[in-house]
Amino acid sequence: MQERVARVGAAAQRGRSSAHGGRRERRTGAGGEVVTHAPRPLRDVTSTATARLSTGIGELDRVLGGGLVPGSLVLLGGSPGIGKSTLTNMALGNLARAGHDTLYVSGEESAEQVRLRAERLAPGALEVPIFAETDLDAVLDTLAEHAPRVCVIDSVQTLRAGELSGAPGAVGQVREVTGRIMELAKERGIAVVLVGHVTKDGALAGPRVLEHLVDCVLQFEGERERPYRELRALKNRFGSTNEAGLFEMRQGGLVEVLDASARFVAEATRAPGSVVLAAMEGSRPLLVEVQALVAPSELEQPRRIVSGLDRNRLALVLAILGRHGGVPVGASDVFVNVVGGVRVDEPGCDLAVALAVASAARGVPTTSFAPGAPGTPRACFGELGLTGELRWVGHPERRLQEAAKHGLSATIAPPDSGAGACEAATLREALRTCFEKIGTPGYVPGHGAGSPRDGSHVPPACASPSRVAQLGP
Ligand code: TYD
Ligand code: MG
Repeated sequence: MQERVARVGAAAQRGRSSAHGGRRERRTGAGGEVVTHAPRPLRDVTSTATARLSTGIGELDRVLGGGLVPGSLVLLGGSPGIGKSTLTNMALGNLARAGHDTLYVSGEESAEQVRLRAERLAPGALEVPIFAETDLDAVLDTLAEHAPRVCVIDSVQTLRAGELSGAPGAVGQVREVTGRIMELAKERGIAVVLVGHVTKDGALAGPRVLEHLVDCVLQFEGERERPYRELRALKNRFGSTNEAGLFEMRQGGLVEVLDASARFVAEATRAPGSVVLAAMEGSRPLLVEVQALVAPSELEQPRRIVSGLDRNRLALVLAILGRHGGVPVGASDVFVNVVGGVRVDEPGCDLAVALAVASAARGVPTTSFAPGAPGTPRACFGELGLTGELRWVGHPERRLQEAAKHGLSATIAPPDSGAGACEAATLREALRTCFEKIGTPGYVPGHGAGSPRDGSHVPPACASPSRVAQLGP
């Protein structure tokens, strides 16, 4: 108690002295304006809109929040061979073509090796000045001398600060390297992209310790053997972390995939075990195919193999499916895959996993039988609650629009998803809607429908013509 009184007293004294003394530190800024170092209301803080530098790669700009911010540090992480050097080479090439000073610092490959890659890319890539060096001081001197608008350091783990004893890539080294580059970048307004290697499990200490230092952390993911690459923002002081960009690795470098939904829907198999998920990739809807395989297991602990989704989420969905959906798979191996090597990180994927697994377990396709389009892939989205309820997820109208745009009607969705949705309140209801339909084994005409073969079939209520009509964009 006494201590508290003492502290209050001290605070009061501080307040008095500043009020009476009125001595506030005043300094003069570079332009002669008075800079006060006293607290002030946020409304008096002037914020200048920073001009962004476009990398000429739409998907990259979008993930960055509208382009590179001068003086900012971007960490681009990804496993070896995923395409980090290709992406940064291409971006610098475009910037050089647009008349910006650029610099590519390569600590990993020789200048000749970088040139060989640049030859495969758009012509601008060959205009980028390269500095192949691993000594931090040499790199900083060059940066200070040339002061480019944008600089790429490929990679941060290969630079070495001479005064530190650790090997390049050690935590102390990467921290020092980043800290000193950041100082210079902020001072000169250079936008710096640091390339960093992350192993598959993200275990590498180097780049992870840098995450709080840099302004923006981008992760480049995908499977090396597959063409699709996904760029995500894990942290972004200048934009949203929800955005993701999709690329394809081709002969001439990375190509933006702008019609991903159309491709994935066209490739969807429509076989038992397949369903289309209307997902949200940040602010963009994306239709992806989710496939499942359920097979009797010979193991005491059946396999649960998942790719493109969270493993724990699969375990949860399987438990809900067994308990509330009447589809027990406890004695089976279950494999679930998001086709194309895409990763889906959102709760809206639960229903797709459940329907794909149920479809695989029962050997019945999920395809919807809307009038005029028999056998179109079935789209769905929704989160599953532990009591078997189907929960609302964000942006239902955009998901439904995307599905409709690609010819998928009768999208199964949680309640309150809006016009055009084939709404289901519970998993059980969703399963019923999905599988009790014309043309599939076990279909019981529940709407006074004709037989599936006589051509006079009436579609299920959720796909009736009037509701399908509302689906248009
Ligand atoms: P790279 O950018 O070197 O990967 P990282 O810097 O992340 O280690 O590119 C890796 C792969 O991309 C390499 O195996 C070759 C392939 N590639 C193409 O298929 N087409 C191309 O035009 C280029 C430049 C690379
Ligand atoms: Mg590389």
